[in-house]
Amino acid sequence: MKIYLYGVREDEQGYMKEWSNAHPDVELDYTNQILTEETADLAKGYNGVVLLQTQAYTRAALEKLQSFGISKISVRNVGLDGFDFKDLRDLGFSLTNVPVYSPNAIAEHTTSLMLRLLRRVPEFDQKFANTDFRWFPTIGEEINGKTVGIIGTGHIGSVVARIMMAFGAKVVAYDIKPNPYLENLGIYVDTPDEVIEQADILTLHTPLAKRDVHMIDADAFAKMKDGVILINAARGGLVDTDALIAALDSGKVGGAGLDVLESENDVFQKKFDSINDVKDPQFKALINRDNVIITPHTAFYTTTAVHNMVFDSLNDNLKMLENKAPKYPVDITVE
Ligand code: COI
Repeated sequence: MKIYLYGVREDEQGYMKEWSNAHPDVELDYTNQILTEETADLAKGYNGVVLLQTQAYTRAALEKLQSFGISKISVRNVGLDGFDFKDLRDLGFSLTNVPVYSPNAIAEHTTSLMLRLLRRVPEFDQKFANTDFRWFPTIGEEINGKTVGIIGTGHIGSVVARIMMAFGAKVVAYDIKPNPYLENLGIYVDTPDEVIEQADILTLHTPLAKRDVHMIDADAFAKMKDGVILINAARGGLVDTDALIAALDSGKVGGAGLDVLESENDVFQKKFDSINDVKDPQFKALINRDNVIITPHTAFYTTTAVHNMVFDSLNDNLKMLENKAPKYPVDITVE
């Protein structure tokens, strides 16, 4: 069997070698480039492909893979918003993802964004840079006693809920499919609006389904408590960024921790010589604020997560190639 991996970073290569040593009959090859219509040719002659990218997968690229006889795709991540499932169905692909490579990685990062905002770390960093080591007036807030609203309590959101409860927060959550353990703890409300209205800190942990694009828009901000803190380590498209900028300007939103942005592909995973070279107006409107922390889609990025992303995706791609049931099949019949 021959499997081709796209979008491979240096830090993944050791895990690929480890997997390869345990599977001497499988030939692995890779590129650091993502899958596009142009790079699809690299997979010619291989049986399966393993992908990771934040850019959309185009039909033209998928058509090329299909023309090479490839029908098994595994992604090394959880989010599937880069695919149009109709393309996958039309072209006869089977798909797997890695839904639980490390929910803790994202949940812990989410918590760190909250803590850094509440304890005003960006302002203390600034004061330190100016050799100002005084407390006043940079007084912080605690998670203990706050109402933390969670929209989406799947693998990641449910870990966030448990962490927040351990901090002493009151958790209110919404999910179309409540988690039975959390349901017993009485954290669920009936609508996302109830979460939005009650939260002192609101954190999003849903995939980017088409119906959820701009779930947090100007109307949603209007319903929030004054000074609410918003955390988004899920998908940039869940938040209407222009509405967020307006809500930060008006003081409606007291702080934002953003690991994802609507226009992140123009900025994240790129090295610029100077901030002046970054053209994205939304990014520029968000940075340089004391109450906004942006991290470049790094919530997932831990050694545990990367190990599992590589191993689970390769295991499942091989399973499909051997006509065995993969551990994490994706149901592409459901939009
Ligand atoms: C995901 O797993 O979907 C992420 O957001 C991580 C990223 C590497 C794409």
